[in-house]
Amino acid sequence: MSDRDVFQPPERIETERLILRKARLSDAAILHDAYMTDPDVAKFTSWKPRTDVRQSEMWIAHCIKQWERAESFPFVIEYESEPIGMVGMHSMSDHISFAFVIAKPFWGKGIMPEALSALIDWALAQQCVNRVQIYFLADNHRSQRVIEKCGLEYEYTFAHPDNLGEPKDCKMYSKVR
Ligand SMILES: CC(C)(COP(=O)(O)OP(=O)(O)OC[C@H]1O[C@@H](n2cnc3c(N)ncnc32)[C@H](O)[C@@H]1OP(=O)(O)O)[C@@H](O)C(=O)NCCC(=O)NCCS
Repeated sequence: MSDRDVFQPPERIETERLILRKARLSDAAILHDAYMTDPDVAKFTSWKPRTDVRQSEMWIAHCIKQWERAESFPFVIEYESEPIGMVGMHSMSDHISFAFVIAKPFWGKGIMPEALSALIDWALAQQCVNRVQIYFLADNHRSQRVIEKCGLEYEYTFAHPDNLGEPKDCKMYSKVR
């Protein structure tokens, strides 16, 4: 991607059951309670469980700023009118990288494959995007299933720090236009 301005996702995308939209400050307290304090969620991400709602407020404010600077596009997932998770869409030099999370009570309903495949389809329809990629901790089988359902294929395994800074095996998956 030579011109960052070319890659500008819409602020709202609707799927069959979901609304994917730019974050609002009012999401912070809801997402804090939904999953940001949950160690079972955080252990598969790059962040430690939050202990104070102000940490979640700072994170959401950062997400909004990243979107406005077109550095990254963190979408909130709304299901039955409630924010329940997020998908980050990061534009890199020549490809798009995704990261995602959803609150535990909503696991196993196929919500993340629905959200992620909509964003992947949108990204790969852009002339400036040739590749989407996702990496995850090798023991995160739930994440692997989501990624396989979205049609990405395994590329390689590499070492990367987990949320506590310990090097762990991660798997890279991708899909090319
Ligand atoms: C990974 C994650 C996003 C999956 O989202 P989801 O909407 O539940 O996805 P799916 O409904 O397709 O379920 C994926 C797999 O989770 C497992 N699963 C299903 N229901 C489950 C439940 N109630 N509890 C635990 N795991 C369950 C199954 O293995 C399922 O695969 P299958 O459909 O082939 O059986 C979610 O588990 C999550 O947020 N985990 C913590 C954060 C994380 O791992 N983020 C990814 C970092 S790369």
